[in-house]
Amino acid sequence: MTPKDDAMHELREGALKARANAYAEESGFLVGAAIRTVSGTVYLGCNVENVAYPEGTCAEAGAIAAMCVAGDRVIEEVYVVAASPADNGIPVSPCGGCRQKIMEFARDPEVKVTMGTTEGDEVTMTIGELLPGAFTAGHMRTE
Ligand code: THU
Repeated sequence: MTPKDDAMHELREGALKARANAYAEESGFLVGAAIRTVSGTVYLGCNVENVAYPEGTCAEAGAIAAMCVAGDRVIEEVYVVAASPADNGIPVSPCGGCRQKIMEFARDPEVKVTMGTTEGDEVTMTIGELLPGAFTAGHMRTE
């Protein structure tokens, strides 16, 4: 394994650990996320659902909140893990809202987001591929 692979698999281990504490009483779909920032610190998150369904939060949002609480701000790499649904084997893909949240702190469309299954299948894409034409602060500048 190259050091780059090691770093990604450290993120996978973190995401799996977070997923083990996911609170998904409504969907039963457990998700874990791990974010490494440019400072080298890893932040974890899991999905947290609620009996009032729209109040649930995604794993990625939890990891971003943990990062912000620590005063950290710039994402270098993301890993998201969930069990693949039995009928397709496709790794979980961040929802639209989480793509926007990741982009906010990635600051760079080349930041990699790896989507993994608990079985070990993985797909890596950049946040720019996941969210082409992203709305950014640049769109609100007047001059
Ligand atoms: N979910 C995540 O936490 N992250 C994703 O990338 C996709 C979906 C959660 C939200 C909800 O708790 C459950 O998965 C089913 O949608």
